[in-house]
Amino acid sequence: LKIASSLGKSDAMTAVFKTVAEWREFLGARRKKGQRIALVPTMGALHEGHVSLINLGKQHAQCVVATIFVNPTQFAANEDFSRYPRPFEADLTKLAAAGCDAVFVPSVEEMYPPGDATRITVAGPALAKLDDVFRPTHFDGVATVVAKLLLQAMPDGAIFGEKDWQQLAVIRQMVRDLMVPVAIIGAPTLRAADGLALSSRNMYLSSSERAKAPAIHQCLQNAAAAIRNGVAPGAATAEATHALRSLGFAVDYVTARHATSLQPVTHADEGPIRLLAAAKIGTTRLIDTIGV
Ligand code: PAF
Repeated sequence: LKIASSLGKSDAMTAVFKTVAEWREFLGARRKKGQRIALVPTMGALHEGHVSLINLGKQHAQCVVATIFVNPTQFAANEDFSRYPRPFEADLTKLAAAGCDAVFVPSVEEMYPPGDATRITVAGPALAKLDDVFRPTHFDGVATVVAKLLLQAMPDGAIFGEKDWQQLAVIRQMVRDLMVPVAIIGAPTLRAADGLALSSRNMYLSSSERAKAPAIHQCLQNAAAAIRNGVAPGAATAEATHALRSLGFAVDYVTARHATSLQPVTHADEGPIRLLAAAKIGTTRLIDTIGV
């Protein structure tokens, strides 16, 4: 199956593949032509942040491809798997306009066929008591699906957004430990004009929640400024937590960590420091992160 979609102003084509066999055949042909391949794994509901990942891919490879798969194993039973947005036609239009060469859109049965049983559990410093505590099965699902997507495509590079800072650390640890021959490339977070980090989940926000949501970024910025001015990281993040709670957020964490080891820091000179936050507004859980 090779559906070429002619969509959007540019009349660009993004080939769509639904089976692993055809996906491998397409990518193998590109490799034979001597092209480097960059992979952008996504769960769809694409926004400008994803487009920036495609654009970054173009700097690294002649062939830039994406995957769209809402991965059930990374959602807990009480999470938003069934209501996660799946605007497939709009996604295809965006990929075509961005110049993405091809997209792999497998079914759940293609990724997890009958009898599938293996799960990857990443250990080590990336499991730093952040989202691994609040979403205990999440990173097993992420590591497992990303390993599958990498082994299916065998790209030269794979690109992930830095907004999911801990996810990026987990993926780097998994790739290193399993010796997957791929360069993992982090891409900077894109933000709305008011500072809210772009996320597919932003579309869950009501207009009043959307108006409040940039406070997460604002509080992180205030904490970063305080740390730069000599306030202890713990005091700065406690202040950010308090500010968010008083605005009605249910805060899972606001924390100062070493940017690469993800271990807690108590003094500014233990950096480079990364601030990470996760908080719910209404029923929507948002995460954000900035460097100090
Ligand atoms: O960040 C995401 O969109 C997902 O966690 C990923 C990496 C595509 C795995 O499903």
